[in-house]
Amino acid sequence: MKPLETKRFIDIRSNLINKAKGEVLEIGCGTGINFSFYKDVTVTAIEPNPVLRKTSYERASEAKTPIHVIEGNAEQLSFSDHSFDTVVGTLVLCTIPNPVKAIREISRVCKPTGTILLFEHVRHENAILGKLQDLLSPVWKRACDGCHLNRDTIHLLKEEEIEIIEINKHLGDIFVTIEARKKQK
Ligand SMILES: C[S@@+](CC[C@H](N)C(=O)[O-])C[C@H]1O[C@@H](n2cnc3c(N)ncnc32)[C@H](O)[C@@H]1O
Repeated sequence: MKPLETKRFIDIRSNLINKAKGEVLEIGCGTGINFSFYKDVTVTAIEPNPVLRKTSYERASEAKTPIHVIEGNAEQLSFSDHSFDTVVGTLVLCTIPNPVKAIREISRVCKPTGTILLFEHVRHENAILGKLQDLLSPVWKRACDGCHLNRDTIHLLKEEEIEIIEINKHLGDIFVTIEARKKQK
């Protein structure tokens, strides 16, 4: 995604992260690109890739707020139920091998009153563009470290009883920011 990390992406990330409150979990933090946007919160960030994690430690040490980076897998989180006020994921549900498991884990560790903040690229609603993504997806996956270009993340969230409070589309409607919560029973 490096070529896209322009002012537009910085604004998208910053606006999303500004909504984080209280105890925050960030899944798949990569190099810690979001860390400079957190303010007045306490962040636990998990990242399975040791190379990316190393850079994220440096960014955590420069952040305005306490950020604790640990090794972790979003499909099997090592936290108790209802541990976090906010769970953040940016450009990560597209890469996680089993996104349904990850969404269930996000839902489990998020407090019932908590917020789920996501920035993802998703399968396009336009049938032709969606098909084009399907065609490109195998090559994209090999070139981009397991990323699924055509993942229908919005559908997966709804299937897992995640209620979408706000959704904003960006850059030709391929990228979305989502504010969501667990469906109230
Ligand atoms: C495209 S990168 C995005 C990194 C960062 N979140 C960002 O916004 O730039 C995808 C990230 O997902 C992480 N990832 C892959 N599988 C994962 C899993 N099972 N649990 C948590 N993170 C995972 C990768 O290691 C990588 O850091």
